[in-house]
Amino acid sequence: MQELLEQLRRQFLEEIAKIEWEESLKELLSNYLGKTGKLKEILWGLKDLSNDEKKTIGPMANTLKVFMEEEIEKKSQELEDAHFAKIEDEEAIDVSLEFPLKGRGHRHPISITTKLMEDICISLGFKIADGPQIENEDYNFDKLNIPADHPARDVWDTFWIQDDINDKQPKNNKFLLRTHTSPVQIREMLKGRLPIKIIVPGRVFRYEQEDARHTCNFYQLEGLMVGEGVTFGDLKWTLDTIMKKLLGEDTKLRFRPSIFPFTEPSAEVDVSCQICKWTGITTPQSPPSKGGEVVRWKKCSMCSGSGWVELLGSGMVHPKVLTACGIDPEKYSGFAFGIGIDRIAAQRFGVSSSRMFYQSKLKLNEQF
Ligand code: DAH
Repeated sequence: MQELLEQLRRQFLEEIAKIEWEESLKELLSNYLGKTGKLKEILWGLKDLSNDEKKTIGPMANTLKVFMEEEIEKKSQELEDAHFAKIEDEEAIDVSLEFPLKGRGHRHPISITTKLMEDICISLGFKIADGPQIENEDYNFDKLNIPADHPARDVWDTFWIQDDINDKQPKNNKFLLRTHTSPVQIREMLKGRLPIKIIVPGRVFRYEQEDARHTCNFYQLEGLMVGEGVTFGDLKWTLDTIMKKLLGEDTKLRFRPSIFPFTEPSAEVDVSCQICKWTGITTPQSPPSKGGEVVRWKKCSMCSGSGWVELLGSGMVHPKVLTACGIDPEKYSGFAFGIGIDRIAAQRFGVSSSRMFYQSKLKLNEQF
């Protein structure tokens, strides 16, 4: 019997040494230690032994059982370690290897400009606010003092959401692609937390005939400050500071009286054109010649030769707008502005047509 156990032990060790897979190990376990396994078979034979023999063989068989269990456990760990070592080997990545930098992509000039403007405004204490691009009529128009019959609605050529959705909407609550970032002013004021000092960079949409200065979607940066004692002087200083930081300290601003339903008084603000350096002319149509030939200069297409580029609308928030948002116009005042980010980008980077930003021309985009 003892010899049998010894033989089984040798046979077991021989077999386990050859095993390479976890599956085979499980098979071995059941072959030796399972209900009908080889060790069990031997143990069945114990009943035919004398009591003395039982006393010696019993513990020996038990020791062998424990030994086999431990060997199997050890082997299982070995197999697992080998498996992971193989994976580590096969999938090793050399993080110190160089990789080609070409084609990594970079920010679009409009994103670069937006970020710059955000940084400047944040340095002046503004916070960034956001709103949906699909807006409701009430916020985009009515609460901004542009009721349905107001002639100013014609200025905003609007993309409306399709009829079968809008027909089910209550009056004044039809959906549209926001025509400006100004509805976020309403969203912010309705929160009822004063003072407010926010900017809203975002995409807006107009049903426009496209040309060098107009595209049917573009980007605006709205500004709003509401509190006690906010004046037009604060607005002028803020815009002057932002523009000089953005376009250069020599940038000049021109405030022209204007009309917006949501501000009173209102002003449109022009900046001295950076493309033609305030001269109104750009590239000569023919290069200057030595022979005294008259040189024809081309009108700057960005400012149409005026030297000024219209960049933004602004003004003091209309009392009716404050009232519509539950703010007492006797106690509080505010200024607002809406800047065309595309035009700033064109000015800053010397691109003569902002439409080019939307033509997916890598040759253009990769320059910035
Ligand atoms: N929302 C106007 C537009 O898109 C721009 C504008 C004008 C915004 C005056 C303002 C403002 O905040 O005060 O044409």
